[in-house]
Amino acid sequence: MSFLSPSLLSADFYNLSKQLDILAENEIKYLHLDVMDGNFVPNISFGPGIIKSLRENYDFIFDTHLMITSPEKYIENFKDAGCDIVTIHYEATKHPLRVLQQIREMGMKAGISLNPGTPVEVLDYLWDELDLILIMTVNPGFGGQSFIESQVKKIKRVRELINENNPNILLEIDGGVKTTNIEKLLDLDIDLFVSGSDVFNKDLDAMQAKLDKYKEILKEENIGK
Ligand code: DX5
Ligand code: ZN
Repeated sequence: MSFLSPSLLSADFYNLSKQLDILAENEIKYLHLDVMDGNFVPNISFGPGIIKSLRENYDFIFDTHLMITSPEKYIENFKDAGCDIVTIHYEATKHPLRVLQQIREMGMKAGISLNPGTPVEVLDYLWDELDLILIMTVNPGFGGQSFIESQVKKIKRVRELINENNPNILLEIDGGVKTTNIEKLLDLDIDLFVSGSDVFNKDLDAMQAKLDKYKEILKEENIGK
C-alpha cells in the first residue's frame, strides 16, 4: 500500500490553511515537513515553531525530514512541536545510530535519509533502530528538481534489504515525483511518495484536480486514511 506525503515546502504560505484544508478534506494521511538550515543544504525553510502551530490545527502524520547539520541538538524541539516521524540524514551527523535511538526514546518514529551519492551499505548496523528509510531522488535542498534515475537501482536494493532485515520499516522516496512519472515507480513497493511542487498549487481547483489524479493512480483507499 502506497501513500502520498505532500511536501509543505511547495505550499503557498500566504494561503497555507486553505491548501492544508484541501489535503485534510481529501483525507491525506501524511504531511512531509522539510526542515533546512542553510548549512547541510543551501536553503533555509522553517523550523519547529511553524510545525507546532500546524500541529494545533491538523491531524496529519507529521513526516519530518531534517536537512540540518547535527540534528541531535534539536530532536527535543521537534518532539515538543508534535512531530510523529523524524528523519535525519546519514551525512549530517557523526553519530547516526545514537540520534536514531534518541528519536525513539522520545516516542517518535526514527528515519534515516540517504543523499543520492550515499551507498546503501551505510544502512548496515542501523537496522535495529529504524522505522523508515528515505531515499533522496534529487539532491536535497529545493523543490521542483528532476527525478534522478540512478536512484531506482538503489530503491530496489533498499527494498530487498528491508525485506531481509525488518519488513516493518517504511520505504519513502523524495524528489521529482509527479503524476507523470509515479506510475513507473509503483512496482518498486514504495510505502511513501513525497511530492511537493506537483501537488501544491495556488489555483485550488488545480490542486484538487491533481489530488484526484494521485488518488486514481495510487487507488483512492491508499492515498488517505
Ligand atoms: C528536497 C525536499 C523535498 C522537496 C520535494 O530537498 O526534501 O521534500 O520538497 O519537492 P518536489 O516534489 O518538488 O521535488
Ligand atoms: Zn523532503
